[in-house]
This record gives sequence, C-alpha cells and structure tokens, in this order.
Amino acid sequence: MDSARVSYFFQFLSTILVLVTFPSVLPKTLASGFSVKEATVKDLQLAFKRNQLTSRQLVEFYLNQIKIQNPILKGVLEVNPDALAQADKADRERKIKAPGSLSGLHGIPILVKDNIATKDKLNTTAGSFALLGSVVPRDAGVVTKLRKAGAIILGKATLSEWSHQRSSNAPNGWNARGGQGKNPYTLDDPCGSSSGSAISVAANLVTVSIGTETDGSILCPSSANSAVGIKPTVGLTSRAGVVPISPRQDSVGPICRTVSDAAYVLETIAGIDTYDNATIEASKYIPKGGYAQFLKKDGLRGKRLGVVRLYYNFGNDTFLHETFKLRLKTLRQRGAVLVDNLVIDNIDEILSVPSENIALNFEFKLALNAYLKDLVASPVKSLADVIAFNNKHSKLEELGKYGQDHMLEAEKTNGIGKVEKQALLNMTRWSQNGFEKLMKRNKLDAVVTPFASFSGILAIGGYPGVIVPAGYEKGMPFGFCFGGLKGSEPKLIEIAYSFEQATLIRKPPPLRKLEV
Ligand SMILES: *[C@@H]1O[C@H](CO)[C@@H](O)[C@H](O)[C@H]1NC(C)=O
Ligand SMILES: *[C@@H]1O[C@H](CO)[C@@H](O)[C@H](O)[C@H]1NC(C)=O
Ligand SMILES: *[C@@H]1O[C@H](CO)[C@@H](O)[C@H](O)[C@H]1NC(C)=O
Ligand SMILES: *[C@@H]1O[C@H](CO)[C@@H](O)[C@H](O)[C@H]1NC(C)=O
Repeated sequence: MDSARVSYFFQFLSTILVLVTFPSVLPKTLASGFSVKEATVKDLQLAFKRNQLTSRQLVEFYLNQIKIQNPILKGVLEVNPDALAQADKADRERKIKAPGSLSGLHGIPILVKDNIATKDKLNTTAGSFALLGSVVPRDAGVVTKLRKAGAIILGKATLSEWSHQRSSNAPNGWNARGGQGKNPYTLDDPCGSSSGSAISVAANLVTVSIGTETDGSILCPSSANSAVGIKPTVGLTSRAGVVPISPRQDSVGPICRTVSDAAYVLETIAGIDTYDNATIEASKYIPKGGYAQFLKKDGLRGKRLGVVRLYYNFGNDTFLHETFKLRLKTLRQRGAVLVDNLVIDNIDEILSVPSENIALNFEFKLALNAYLKDLVASPVKSLADVIAFNNKHSKLEELGKYGQDHMLEAEKTNGIGKVEKQALLNMTRWSQNGFEKLMKRNKLDAVVTPFASFSGILAIGGYPGVIVPAGYEKGMPFGFCFGGLKGSEPKLIEIAYSFEQATLIRKPPPLRKLEV
C-alpha cells in the first residue's frame, strides 16, 4: 500500500563519510539584495514587482541548487530543458503587465511528482523504466491549470516507485530510475510516496511542489521533511493524467514550505476538469474568492478540535509526549476548544479488517490499465506487461532486492465481485458511522493528530488533511495533521495557518553537498 511508515521516526543516521554539510558558502543573495532561500510565493511576487528579481534568476538559482544538492538528496528526477525559456516568457509577460502576471503562481517554479503527466520534453514514469519512453496524450489536469496560471514546470520530483504500489519491501523514496531519495535533515528515510516533492521544497531546490496521496503519501513525507502538505478532498483536484492507484482515494495536492504557499498552489490546481468527472461534483466545495482569504492569523479562535489519542504511540519518548502537550497548549492559547480523548466508534474493525487493501488491489489494476491504454505510445500496455517488464529487466528494476508483491496481488484480481463490493461498502459504512459521526456528534471543525498517523481514516472516506511542521526530535522533523470532513479545506487552512504563525517552527536543513 501507498505507504506512510511511522517507524522511520526512530531511525537516525550516524555518519555518512562522503558528505559534508556547511551552511553558507554559496551566494544566497542577488545583487539587488533579495534572498531566494526560503522565500515564499508572496515574497517572490513582491520582489518581481520591485524589479529585485526575475523568473530567470529564480530558475537559475534553483538549477544551481539542484546541481549541488541533488546528487545527495535525489529529490529531482528530471529537470525541464524548457524551464529557462518558460522563465523568460514569464519575465516578458510581467514587463508588459499581461493579465495574470504579478499574481498567484505566475513566474514561480514548481516540481511535479513523476506520476503526473506533462506533455513536453519531460518523461512521466512513476520512477520506473517500464514507462520510460511512454508518450502521454496530454498534460495532466493539474498541469494544464498550472501552465495557464503561468507557473514554470521546473521538472519532475522523485517518488517511491509506482507510488509504493509495486513492492512492500522497497524503501520509502526509492525508485529504479532515480535511486534512493534522502531526507535532507537526517539523510535517512524521507517517507513516501511523494518523497521528492517534500525533499525538494525542504532543501530549497524549488519554490513549491505537487504530490499525490492514496493513503499518507502527501502527509507523511511532508511530516518527515518539515514541509506543509495539503491532501485535498478527493475530486477537488483533477487526477486525470496521473498514474493512478485508486480513483476512489487518489488526490493531488501541494507540498510547500508554508501554509500560504500551499493555499496558493491549491487555489491554482483545484477545479473542474472534464477528463476527471469527480471534479464536477467536488467543485461545490471551492470557495468563491479562493483559498488565500483563509490565511488568518486568528484562524484558531473558536475552532473545535478533536484529539483522538489512539492514533499515535510515542512509546517512552518523553520529548514527544511533552512536545505534543505543548503544541496542544498553543492551540488552546490561540482560542481553540480541544475535545480530548475521543474514540472512533468502529475503530477496532477499521484497524483489523483489510477492506482497504482488497479495494486498492482491484482498483489499481483497473485504473492502471485504463491509464496505460490512454497513452499515445508506451513500452507497456497493461499491469501484466509491467510485471513482465520487471521480470525481464530484473536487474535494472532491482527486482531481486525488492520484488513486486503488490503488483502480483493486484494482477490476480478480476474486477468488482462480491468480495470487492463488500470491501467498498465496509469503508463507506466505517466512514459514516466512524469519522463522520465523531465530527458531527462533537461539532468538530477538525481532528488533530501527530505525523501522518490519521491518514488511513482520511483515505478511506476521501477526506482532506493539512499537515504543518510541529517540531524536531533529535533532528528528525515531525508535523501536526488537521483532518476534516469533505470540503473543509477553508477551515483546515485557517487552523493550519494560525498554528504555523503561532509556532514558526520550520527551519531549513543544512546544505548537502558531495565532497570533491
Ligand atoms: C526522457 O528520457 C529519455 C530517455 O532516457 C532521455 O533521453 C531524456 O533526456 C529524458 N528527458 C528529460 C527531460 O530528462
Ligand atoms: C464524464 O461524464 C460524461 C457524461 O456522463 C461522459 O460522457 C464522459 O465520458 C465522462 N468523462 C470521463 C473522462 O469519464
Ligand atoms: C518503556 O519502558 C518500559 C520500562 O522501562 C519498558 O518495559 C518498555 O518496553 C518501554 N516501551 C517502549 C515502547 O519502549
Ligand atoms: C467487511 O466487514 C466485515 C465486518 O467487519 C468483515 O467480516 C468482512 O470480512 C469485511 N469484508 C471485506 C471484503 O473486507
């Protein structure tokens, strides 16, 4: 399953001899005095307006950072050969004050996860050699919206191969094409599957990025790399042109350094796409005037937050216990009402019955086959072809090391039978009698949990979640996740922004450079 392993939390790296880390040898500041490192979309737009910065300079800064840091971090799989040309175009449009320039993501570089199609010189491969050379029919729905807004597609971000739907043994952030992505804070587990998206924003290889989540794949890497992630309500953003796992659970969302950047990205990519009909129904959730209006410093005032303590186990880690207590105190001090010690009614059933896995297996086969069939050209045309490709190129795909158990399981399925129907009904019932009931009975605006520990509940019901940096345990970042009912993104953004502004915990990782 598209995975969010929480055990990563207690793994720390001792020493890696080939690496040195040092803080500030490179020029971070332009002649104009503007510093790109850690700059937000808003900072950048202001610098554009004041002629302190061009999109070309911005792209050049990131290309240089990628050159220096990516050999270690492996957050970027491919750089767009047209990125500088796109930057020049943005600069020209800004000069003549073209409509839409000087706002939103215009002239801002973005990385998209390698399972998101771009109809350009970049490959779209989900990290696998099996899709190298495939030709996509068109840009993914979210990429169409990004280009229309004038964003610069800087490249493709690495991921757990096939969004972790190939092998349960493959480590988070590993794929055959790109190798092992590294957490810039610990040089260890970056979590997954949108690893590269989180690694890259954390290490200032790009301004903002996009990831995808089926169960934890935005929330977990955001938590592990001290980033802000938004997993939108399923259907709020188009999944067309995304190498799928499950149309019922897949969601495309931002991974950024700040809540405000994530709100700008969400605002740009949310909305109707006729290639993904789920976006029509979900468009009712999009607020008039967009998401940035909910960036309110006092957004926590009067909010009712549920604390569901079953969802994490800090073990004997006093630091985490104390930190959690402290952060809950901050929420209270900012005016939130905490409703503590809540329990989801049917939680034992949800945790012990494997309905989600049963569903993801048959859904993956159906959805992937449909994606592959829609390609203009491809070395593989079906899941069976992918499995055969892996067997044939077992060395290239490191099959011996990691296998492909998830794919083999999925291939065994045969559409929607009695068991599959029951699995789907189970999840609908669990969501209605579980999370929905908990939220309504307690009149909650959101539930707050540490890490991505709540992702499963949000996943099976298609609910949104926003995660924000909440601290560092022995150098390892962790986040707080706010989850809510469908369409509650405005509230979640208010809560997350207010929490972020009250804590301002995120700090950039050290520069990671190969020793020469
Ligand atoms: C896409 O893959 C082909 C084949 O490996 C490679 O030649 C090309 O450079 C890749 N495109 C980019 C933008 O990296
Ligand atoms: C969306 O719905 C319309 C109307 O039911 C249908 O004709 C169309 O094929 C659907 N599009 C996709 C991509 O499923
Ligand atoms: C916590 O500490 C107790 C007593 O030292 C020990 O028995 C237990 O195994 C520890 N639990 C964990 C999760 O480390
Ligand atoms: C559905 O839930 C019931 C009750 O927990 C369980 O016995 C059954 O195995 C589940 N079915 C599937 C297909 O997951």
